[in-house]
Amino acid sequence: MSSPVLSIRGLTTEFVTPAGVVKAVNDVSWDLYPGETLGVVGESGSGKSVTAMSILGLIQSPPGRIVAGEIVFDGRDLLHMSPKELRRLRGSEIGMIFQDPMTSLNPVLTVGQQISEALRLHDSTMSRAEARARAVELLTMVGVPNPAGRYDQYPHEHSGGMRQRAMIAMAIANDPKVLIADEPTTALDVTIQAQVLDVLRTAQERTNAATILITHDLGLIAEHADRVVVMYGGKVVEVADALSIFSAPRHPYTLGLMSSLPRLDVDLQRLDPIPGSPPNLIDLPPGCSFHPRCRVSRGREPCRTEVPPLYDVGGGQWSACHYSEEVPAEMAVVSREMGAALGSTGA
Ligand SMILES: Nc1ncnc2c1ncn2[C@@H]1O[C@H](COP(=O)(O)OP(=O)(O)O)[C@@H](O)[C@H]1O
Ligand SMILES: [Mg+2]
Repeated sequence: MSSPVLSIRGLTTEFVTPAGVVKAVNDVSWDLYPGETLGVVGESGSGKSVTAMSILGLIQSPPGRIVAGEIVFDGRDLLHMSPKELRRLRGSEIGMIFQDPMTSLNPVLTVGQQISEALRLHDSTMSRAEARARAVELLTMVGVPNPAGRYDQYPHEHSGGMRQRAMIAMAIANDPKVLIADEPTTALDVTIQAQVLDVLRTAQERTNAATILITHDLGLIAEHADRVVVMYGGKVVEVADALSIFSAPRHPYTLGLMSSLPRLDVDLQRLDPIPGSPPNLIDLPPGCSFHPRCRVSRGREPCRTEVPPLYDVGGGQWSACHYSEEVPAEMAVVSREMGAALGSTGA
């Protein structure tokens, strides 16, 4: 494999709150390779957005602080860059798309002005007319109808789907090397979601940007990611290619996530694949923070006392489980239970 375009090593980001120190991102490491889509998945609160904000230099301090780690982009450690350098990087080399474009689009500028501004900030030789023409071209590319007319409209005059397309246009305006899309379609209707994801894919193909697709939705991962990072309680618990995540997960949490995918045919709620609730990030359980909810651990001692490192389990797959080799057998058990549940409901 070629060398990564973005490498995160030991990233640790905390928030100081009156209730205590929230360990939002806890010793996270992964690599992003050129051209790939890396899915980052996990329940709400698992540290996905804080990871993205850390990369982008957008953690507000206080209450936030990055206490350890390296974020190497293109040979440079982003954690040692000045706010000014980071701002320039965000507008050009790293594009970002968030769940709610209203938080990232400026409400008092037209959509077109914002794209033009992004272009001219990056290339000061570009004239206003050139920037306008290029912005209209970008709006056309992301499928905004009547792009020339839309150019002069304000964000609130656009529908959610159109705003998200405009965000994508802005994110790719300067041919970024990396695109970070954090729950880009979570706020949209299902039909619009699919369209926006298609646009994102096209945009990615045009720019050949490596993409980080952050989502709580495993369905999106199946369809759009090449490789997957699974997060739980601020930590990476599994890394694998998208196929292996579904066919041969090696972490009990990943298995639980998969078993809790909604099914059309039957209500499997009562199987409760991940009993209990996510860990308290102020007071993490000792050992593996997933052990209180784990069906593989069965209370074994290493799970309660030793924080599992990310073990290399072969084939480009990594699992932070002391008993990762037992997960395939457990998957067979889960499948049988699901089969039995299907049988008993007559579905
Ligand atoms: N500004 C903040 N102050 C305190 N806690 C925060 C702040 N931002 C995020 N957190 C906490 O960090 C944890 C991870 O959040 P986040 O990365 O947003 O999760 P998600 O995986 O849903 O994107 C959560 O427990 C969240 O409450
Ligand atoms: Mg989030």
